[in-house]
Amino acid sequence: MADRNLIKKNLKNTLTETNFKGYKRVYKGKVRDVYEVKSQRFFVATDRQSAFDRILASVPFKGAVLNLFSKFWFEQTKDIIANHMIAVPDANVMVMKPLKIFPVEVVVRGYLTGTTGTSAWVAYEKGERLFCGVKLPERLKKNQAFDHPILTPTTKSDAHDEKISAEEIVKRGLVPEQQWKKIEEAALKIFARGQAIAKKQGYILVDTKYEFGEDEKGNVVLADEVHTPDSSRYWVAATYEKQLAAGQEPENFDKEFLRLWFKNHCDPYNDPVLPPAPDELVEELAFRYIDIYEKLTSLAFNAQADLPIHDRIQKNLNIYFNT
Ligand SMILES: Nc1ncnc2c1ncn2[C@@H]1O[C@H](COP(=O)(O)OP(=O)(O)OP(=O)(O)O)[C@@H](O)[C@H]1O
Ligand SMILES: [Mg+2]
Repeated sequence: MADRNLIKKNLKNTLTETNFKGYKRVYKGKVRDVYEVKSQRFFVATDRQSAFDRILASVPFKGAVLNLFSKFWFEQTKDIIANHMIAVPDANVMVMKPLKIFPVEVVVRGYLTGTTGTSAWVAYEKGERLFCGVKLPERLKKNQAFDHPILTPTTKSDAHDEKISAEEIVKRGLVPEQQWKKIEEAALKIFARGQAIAKKQGYILVDTKYEFGEDEKGNVVLADEVHTPDSSRYWVAATYEKQLAAGQEPENFDKEFLRLWFKNHCDPYNDPVLPPAPDELVEELAFRYIDIYEKLTSLAFNAQADLPIHDRIQKNLNIYFNT
């Protein structure tokens, strides 16, 4: 069970910046840092909570939860397609196979939902019936399931991701046709597996985003993170029908409350320095991450908090890489 006292005790024992001695940092993402050593690569999942393209807070145990979530889903889907996971020498670390990542975000949606400019529901409400090359039927309601999950890719770019059809991906040469076929097939199968497992655990896997890459032999390999609460939307299955019938939003894994607090207390788009997030909110978010991990996987989250987190990871890296 997620333990509020342990979270409280570790509110400051979080991983925001990383600097591991003896390892070369080659990339700093919004949430994960990538390191290189002896021609091997690994991700360090930090506790950074990002929104508005900046860091709002550091949430205890979040990096570990996300990393272990991906580990779980890589194991659960490895019969469908090979993935980049090599080892998890620490709760926050994943040693992975470096790949050439295809410049496409492979989005799969089981339900018509969303609130942002790129969401399927917002487009549908405006009358769009062709979404990323997929024809949508008439008279769908918000948060209703599609007959079949649909693939709605976007380009992967620094500026902003742009919707694109499967046809256009191949035509523009973003992914060669043969490999794209494999990606499509794998993405839908992984999503179906995700939905089946989530359902058994009392959740609906609503939509998600995958990244694929190719290895030196040209094989398509599943990369990045899989079915984490940061890359996916989850709803509570038991109350979904009732909420839909009542015209209410489904119960979800929600981190919107933290974004809202910032919107109400500062201008997160423009202020040079943000106020610190209140402890109670950070604690609540940590609780929710651990809780959904345990419920979805039926695994106990073994929070390790005996050492300062950066020291613990350094120690485990040194053991694994023999340095
Ligand atoms: N096996 C892999 N080989 C190489 N790069 C990978 C692999 N798996 C994931 N990546 C890349 O590593 C980065 C992960 O970092 P993170 O998700 O924190 O960054 P991000 O800010 O989301 O980055 P981006 O904006 O590029 O997606 C992403 O750029 C992702 O495409
Ligand atoms: Mg990412």
